[in-house]
Amino acid sequence: MSVPVIPVAPLRRGLEIPPLLRDPASGPLADMRGRGLRDLRISVTDRCNFRCTYCMPRDVFDANHEFLPHAQILSFEEIVRVARVFHGLGIAKIRLTGGEPLLRRNIEGLVAMLSQALPDIDLTLTTNGSALKQKARALFEAGLRRITVSLDSLDDATFRAMNDADFPVARVLEAIDVAAAEGLAPVKVNMVVKRGTNDDQVIAMARHFRGSGHIVRFIEFMDVGATNGWRMDDVVPSAEVVRRINAEFPCEPVNPNHFGEVAKRWRFKDGGGEFGIISSVSQAFCSSCNRARLSTDGSLYTCLFATEGYDLKSILRKGASDEDLSRAVAAVWQRREDRYSEIRTADTPRSRKVEMSFIGG
Ligand code: GTP
Ligand code: 5AD
Ligand code: SF4
Ligand code: SF4
Repeated sequence: MSVPVIPVAPLRRGLEIPPLLRDPASGPLADMRGRGLRDLRISVTDRCNFRCTYCMPRDVFDANHEFLPHAQILSFEEIVRVARVFHGLGIAKIRLTGGEPLLRRNIEGLVAMLSQALPDIDLTLTTNGSALKQKARALFEAGLRRITVSLDSLDDATFRAMNDADFPVARVLEAIDVAAAEGLAPVKVNMVVKRGTNDDQVIAMARHFRGSGHIVRFIEFMDVGATNGWRMDDVVPSAEVVRRINAEFPCEPVNPNHFGEVAKRWRFKDGGGEFGIISSVSQAFCSSCNRARLSTDGSLYTCLFATEGYDLKSILRKGASDEDLSRAVAAVWQRREDRYSEIRTADTPRSRKVEMSFIGG
């Protein structure tokens, strides 16, 4: 695959925090399009031991790639503080992401701190599964109750090529079962579907996870970041995925669990459980997007496709109060206008968008 070489610049200057538009005490927080704030995704490391071709292509993320230095990374205490502030603004869910979050030393310590500080939050984590077998019990004991594992193929050769780290399918499958047995159930399984690469695995994945209690979600390959060589031709629209599954295993749609849920739920008519589709390219869901993202280095991003974030870390480290931080987040959210996926076309330039491994999935 030919990959455009665009330098990845993790150390960004950051956007100025704007002034508040309204007093946050005057009512629920809403952005310029009336969208609330429900979900905070926290990237805890920009490192990963995989080099998935659609996320961290090896010729860009090579031995010369500079990951964030330790001093730039938010500490656990700083993360918990930001999470508390978001909680005060009404969020219901926190997802820990990366890079690969289980590579962050003592990640279970962070989970324990977050679950103790915010016991009513739906706390979850997205992992590639490579260290999950070893970590599942500690994560459960720390208070994690559910988890999402990425797995793009059941065919070993295809999976090893896609993760570009020669990591075998069997170890991810084993980790999924261990996680469920430890209580992190149901496990959600994320498959990024890329035409001509792994789309022949859609039925195999549906078949494998039917009746297992795990929920597989088929995700359209996105043009996130600037390095993964995305082309519209590589996207398999979710409608096609559903058509293919339905031909083999008749299925029907299910109502969402909550407003703004990313995955559209489907169930097998014979009682074999459910699966999800994530159609961020063919049917963008920006109109209900209630997700904020905190990068590893403490910047707040209001869209997965942003080019720049708002530097919360500087404010934190300059001694801001929780009230100051809350007002800063509220001000950013009140001015938010993002709707990248709704306006993207096949020709949208892939300029300086932040990488997914930096901002989290
Ligand atoms: P659940 O609460 O478990 O359903 O989590 P979720 O729907 O947030 O799912 P998850 O975090 O696993 O997201 C799955 C995938 O959906 C991500 O890896 C991204 O590929 C995509 N995705 C999630 N959020 C967004 C978003 O805000 N915009 C776009 N374009 N894609 C997103
Ligand atoms: N398109 C869609 N999803 C992606 N992910 C990473 N890169 C992409 C992309 N280009 C998602 C995968 C993985 C999670 C960490 O990020 O779902 O499970
Ligand atoms: Fe790592 Fe996940 Fe990106 Fe793959 S998709 S390179 S596992 S962060
Ligand atoms: Fe939200 Fe941006 Fe994704 Fe649209 S493209 S759903 S605004 S993160």
